[in-house]
Amino acid sequence: MTRFDPSGPLRGWLRPPSDKSISHRAALIAAMGEGETEITAYLDAADTRSTLAAVAALGARVETAPQVSWTTVGPVPQGLGNDLRVAPSLGVRIQGVGLRGAGPATIDVGNAGTLLRLLPGWLAGQEGGRWTLDGDDSIRRRPVDRIAVPLREMGAHLSCREDRLPPLEIEGAPLRGVTYELPIASAQVKSCLLFAGLLAEGETRVVEPLPSRDHTERMLAAAGASIRRDGDAVVLQPAERLEWSSILVPADISSAAFFVVAALLVGGSDVALEGIGVNPTRTGLLTILERMGAEIAREWEPEESGEPITRLRIRSAPLRGTEVGGAEIPLAIDELPLVALAACFAEGTTTIRDAEELRRKESDRIETVTAALRGLGGNVEPTEDGMVIEGSGGLRGGTIDSHGDHRIAMLGAVAGLASREGVEVVGMDAAAVSYPGFEADLASLIAR
Ligand code: S3P
Repeated sequence: MTRFDPSGPLRGWLRPPSDKSISHRAALIAAMGEGETEITAYLDAADTRSTLAAVAALGARVETAPQVSWTTVGPVPQGLGNDLRVAPSLGVRIQGVGLRGAGPATIDVGNAGTLLRLLPGWLAGQEGGRWTLDGDDSIRRRPVDRIAVPLREMGAHLSCREDRLPPLEIEGAPLRGVTYELPIASAQVKSCLLFAGLLAEGETRVVEPLPSRDHTERMLAAAGASIRRDGDAVVLQPAERLEWSSILVPADISSAAFFVVAALLVGGSDVALEGIGVNPTRTGLLTILERMGAEIAREWEPEESGEPITRLRIRSAPLRGTEVGGAEIPLAIDELPLVALAACFAEGTTTIRDAEELRRKESDRIETVTAALRGLGGNVEPTEDGMVIEGSGGLRGGTIDSHGDHRIAMLGAVAGLASREGVEVVGMDAAAVSYPGFEADLASLIAR
């Protein structure tokens, strides 16, 4: 059990760890390449270590070295001192096996749902190969029929437990391009089908009901694939080869989100978050919080090559309730637990709807967030597809169980700092899935 006491103002300048979504994709696309790819600031966390181990098992040569520096853009943030604290990351070199060169393997995806959903897309079209993907207890509850159904339409040979759950067995087979309308907005399913489309015969069109994160599209284009957007569809042509030389991974807005909300809720706080990826398909939380009354400055214009990055500056502010739903959901999907936490501190009611997908994350996040916040004195009602939260002027405190879900563990820590009596988190170690140094980084903001 780890205790987080009510805290004085948070102050500091921090580069949180690198983006998990982008790191997974960078390793996979580098492994598909012909030559060597250099990945700067690869996320050093359990999930993305699973992806490095996976591509190594498939035959890619993987070299890693610790990286702790970061080059800032623009002047130091005023009033916070000159010391930038940088979460460690990895410098990674990957010698790819080529699009059709993955060797047979049994892959342990650990806790990484993104690896579980993306990798089969690449493997399915490699004739003659056989692979098994399995993972931890939480992974064994995460549905894979969402990729198995469309991959089979493309000609793939896959089998899974109860036709729905891991372990997933893949036998490489010739694929054909299809038009597939995603029943739910999912960047994981979209990315899986785009990977499969690289090896298919003919064009692949993935139609999205709502836009979701587009890192795969950006990276495949950079690696030379023929990929374009056509209205609500992503259209990809098969590729002979991918070639890529280097990529710099921005800091993860989904990890930065914990500090954004902590700084907003703990009175007197002032925090600068460096090098944050602000791809518009990921910034839903910022839009929602701004509507609730937050002011979140972007201290320099995002660079537009590859992935846009900037420095975020957050000072505490009073919040009011809001309505969250529709197209905003995929843009904030992993941050919705934090919206619920912020809503406990806001004036009035906050409603989150259209977010049934929360039930299929590392935990059923409608259940785990409701239970966690209620246990701390929050007034939260779960619904089929979201939550209704009555602002209660803050939270008393108490105990939170992470249920092995990294984002619930970190939510508990933030809640503790902002609570009246403190929060004990059971299962804080789950944070290492995406953010191994989270507690120390949070403490560094308090100590200042
Ligand atoms: C991810 C997409 C989202 C998100 C997950 C990472 C990705 O899942 O929740 O944490 O990297 O593509 P869905 O695409 O299934 O919504």
